[in-house]
Amino acid sequence: PSRKFFVVGNWKMNEQKQNLGELIGTLNAAKVPADTEVVRAPPTAYIDFAQQKLDSKTAVAAQNCYKVTNGDFTGDISPGMIKDCGATWVVLGHSERRHVFEESDELIGHKVAHALSEGLRVIACIGEKLDEREAGITEKVIFQQTKVIADNVKDWSKAVLAYEPTATPQQAQEVHEKFRGWLESNVSEAVAQSTGIIYGGSVTGATCKEQASQPDVDGFLVGVASLKPEFVDIINAKQ
Ligand code: G3H
Repeated sequence: PSRKFFVVGNWKMNEQKQNLGELIGTLNAAKVPADTEVVRAPPTAYIDFAQQKLDSKTAVAAQNCYKVTNGDFTGDISPGMIKDCGATWVVLGHSERRHVFEESDELIGHKVAHALSEGLRVIACIGEKLDEREAGITEKVIFQQTKVIADNVKDWSKAVLAYEPTATPQQAQEVHEKFRGWLESNVSEAVAQSTGIIYGGSVTGATCKEQASQPDVDGFLVGVASLKPEFVDIINAKQ
């Protein structure tokens, strides 16, 4: 398969300019392998700051956006604003958006469609909750989420799927293979082979190499470790 290794650093709602500036300096000095794509997702307030400071080796993502162009939506941002700040990606359907902010599948689907139609690329997140895993309905939940996303993606070259599991890392390959099978059955074999499916389960510098060696793990969605120097090891996990 021609899938590029793809690593997203999701800074979530952490750090302020001084620390972020230092982190960006470390990241700018790091080597990014030619066959790896790296994206950083700063907090909304710092998209512009990060975009200006990060060198051109990496792209910038917003952590969220709304489903329309503009209007009376206090506190939210549009894909147009994200692009205006120079970012090219948006993370949608993150588990924290789903579970802390109670975003529904339907809303996430609308956001995916709108962001893509505005020319952003989308990192679409999927994942079960612990009670759903314990109730034995993981597959039902994750494929329902995948279906809503898939129904809103016309051009799969602009989308990456991120699996945020409650499963152990050992189960990641198994679930990723099932995602690829789902895409093959429900979209097309070409899309199944070309779409990146990245793993968002608390990846660290210590665990990344083994996980990256799994055939259906095409990269990582990294939270806490993306704020540390070990993120450089994660970017280089395939080397
Ligand atoms: O966005 C990343 C995932 O939520 C994983 O976060 O690496 O801090 O566990 P974490």
